[in-house]
Amino acid sequence: MLLGVLCILVVPQVFSEAPPAPPQDIQVDNWLLRWSPESDPDDGDVTYTAQYSSFDSGVWTDVPYCDHTPLNYCNVSSIKARSEYGCMMLRVRAERHGQNSPSVQACSKHGHLCTPDFNLIASPGSLTVHLSKNTTFLREHADHAKYRVYYGKKGEALQDYKDGLASVTIDELQEGQRYCTRVQYLYFKDTVGLPTCTQCELIPESDSRRTATIVSLVLLGVLLLVFPVIAYFLLFQRWRFKRWLQPRYTFREHLLEPIPEPFLPIHSSTEEHYDVISSMSQVELRE
Ligand SMILES: *[C@@H]1O[C@H](CO)[C@@H](O)[C@H](O)[C@H]1NC(C)=O
Ligand SMILES: *[C@@H]1O[C@H](CO)[C@@H](O)[C@H](O)[C@H]1NC(C)=O
Repeated sequence: MLLGVLCILVVPQVFSEAPPAPPQDIQVDNWLLRWSPESDPDDGDVTYTAQYSSFDSGVWTDVPYCDHTPLNYCNVSSIKARSEYGCMMLRVRAERHGQNSPSVQACSKHGHLCTPDFNLIASPGSLTVHLSKNTTFLREHADHAKYRVYYGKKGEALQDYKDGLASVTIDELQEGQRYCTRVQYLYFKDTVGLPTCTQCELIPESDSRRTATIVSLVLLGVLLLVFPVIAYFLLFQRWRFKRWLQPRYTFREHLLEPIPEPFLPIHSSTEEHYDVISSMSQVELRE
């Protein structure tokens, strides 16, 4: 009975509270951010919230006047002054009855969508820059156009580069370091247009390397614990060691037996004096 009531109360709620679909096809054109609503057009309850973040800060802030808007566009010119070198990450999410869709990101440069558009996938020791083979520029310039991917450690000038027609993988990168990339179009041997915004990614450590690091740390810890103990014994308890290492004194069996007759000293006229050993005891050797 109670279960039935619970089902009646909870089940419709669960269904109605499913988050809305994320917005699609994000565009930025002269500081106007636009997206296509993916949800049921009859569903009037869906609103959108746009947020911005300067590159690599990881902090997202609502774009003024663009939180919970029922529209499918937003004028983001008010954040112009807050962009770094004209670069800005934007994201939009849909919301219905307190349930949020995943956010969809876009890169904006000087109020336009970053071109070429790329995203980074980091794996242990390498960084892959995913680039489309099918962009207007590449189509228009067919065989003579390429991408140039500049890269370098975060904080350093991006001097190294690698050219490619599509996605480019940069190998032999230091694990645990943050690397940044910037992409520009290449026509014959010349770079064309503005480079993209710089994006950075942390190169993760491989499992084997992480294991090796942990093992060496544990070994170091054990050594640090054991070393003082050994040093203490070597310095202050040396006599104990000596005693432990000293061979146990054992009497040879035949020494304890009575001396056989022929070897007994003959009592002659020139009688020698000797003492009879009545007992033997082990004397402790100590420093
Ligand atoms: C966006 O807002 C700015 C300032 O409020 C205005 O100058 C500009 O025309 C607006 N852009 C669009 C596309 O509405
Ligand atoms: C390349 O993109 C254009 C426009 O977006 C599209 O019409 C065309 O089919 C695409 N070509 C390939 C091979 O995907």
